[in-house]
Amino acid sequence: MPSVKFETGRDFALAMTTADPLAPYRDRFHIPKTPGGSDCVYLCGHSLGLQPKSARAYVEQELQDWAHLGVEGHFHAKNPWMLYHESLTAPTARLVGALPSEVVVMNSLTVNLHLMMVSFYRPTPQRHKIVIESNAFPSDQYAVQSQISFHGYDPAESLLEIAPRPGETSVRTEDIEKLLAEKGEQIALSLLSGVNYYSGQAFDCQHIAKAAHAQGCIVGFDMAHAAGNLLLQLHDWNVDFAVWCSYKYLNGGPGCVAGCFVHEKPAMDKELPRFAGWWGHDKSSRFQMPPQFQPIPGAEGWQLSNPSILSMAALRASMEIFDEVTIKRLRAKSEALTAYLEFLLTQQPCGKFSILTPRDPSQRGAQLSLQIRKGGRAICDLLAQQGIICDWREPDILRVAPVPLYNSFLDVHTFADKFLSQVKA
Ligand SMILES: Cc1ncc(COP(=O)(O)O)c(C=O)c1O
Repeated sequence: MPSVKFETGRDFALAMTTADPLAPYRDRFHIPKTPGGSDCVYLCGHSLGLQPKSARAYVEQELQDWAHLGVEGHFHAKNPWMLYHESLTAPTARLVGALPSEVVVMNSLTVNLHLMMVSFYRPTPQRHKIVIESNAFPSDQYAVQSQISFHGYDPAESLLEIAPRPGETSVRTEDIEKLLAEKGEQIALSLLSGVNYYSGQAFDCQHIAKAAHAQGCIVGFDMAHAAGNLLLQLHDWNVDFAVWCSYKYLNGGPGCVAGCFVHEKPAMDKELPRFAGWWGHDKSSRFQMPPQFQPIPGAEGWQLSNPSILSMAALRASMEIFDEVTIKRLRAKSEALTAYLEFLLTQQPCGKFSILTPRDPSQRGAQLSLQIRKGGRAICDLLAQQGIICDWREPDILRVAPVPLYNSFLDVHTFADKFLSQVKA
């Protein structure tokens, strides 16, 4: 989107919405309704993305084939279930900047994180530490701590948490580099987020991967808040592995099957230790049920079980939309939407809240995290009563994400208007 000079009036929001070439995509999604029947202002795609209208037909197709074919659907369904996950490979690879052989859709995020750490976190007495954000998503914290303990090390010693400097709200890339340079020889794994769930800070993954590799560390990323939000180039950035869920910006539905990236080099290494299951076994001999595991070359070799077809069907509907619109165009609109939100919130000085998320567009995605001095939880609830859906993270953060696929400049204007009148009341 070409850069425009923002204005505060509602007529400007309306004009921007009318001129938005991606505006028609909103109609491809179910927008939750208020009790009065009007569209909610849904700014919560960072938590649960909305349902593509086409998802129903995709799921119904599989329900029908199941009803009519039973077990035969594995081979004779319109989209045979045996190969169903493969239909998600190419769109997923395009979305995260990977080779098709480097991605697979399977399990859920935390399960995939554990599977990746089984292969990539191989601690030794010299090198057993893991770098993580001090406010990483708790599930990542639990997963990492349990892996460290499982290997007989002490999380108090092996977990290196990186935090913003006192008085600052974002982690500086130079501080990550410094930590890697100073302690690199002891660090087995750098595991940061693409976008931090709490602050909305987007990390410079390429830079971090390079700095960590220079110290001989493995580089993994939790891309839960980055997939479908930012332009990713996981292959070119030389990331070793990445995991993400598909129910946020990817609109796959609650608990949808997740994504996993393994870089080509390790992905093709059949000797790399892993936890194995039959769905990761060589496809040509899988049904001969041989006793010896032979991994499929590529990320598919980490699959354990036959996957949930109904869940993948809904995701397929959404990935088709991503392919049509392209992440590049979405990111361009997203930068404009988020900048517009920031503009509206900062026109008049207001000591009652501050923006925790970096102001630099290259260091954030769709989400702005607003730190509210007093009564924030009540404001979030009041907004919800008015049909404005954001979410609350204790102790004082309102997370707001205008999602370029289905949010409009008008949505952003309505939110800012209502929020500012609440927070100033
Ligand atoms: C950053 C991040 N990591 C991990 C998770 C856990 O995801 P799952 O429950 O799919 O394992 C979430 C869930 O919201 C998340 O936001």
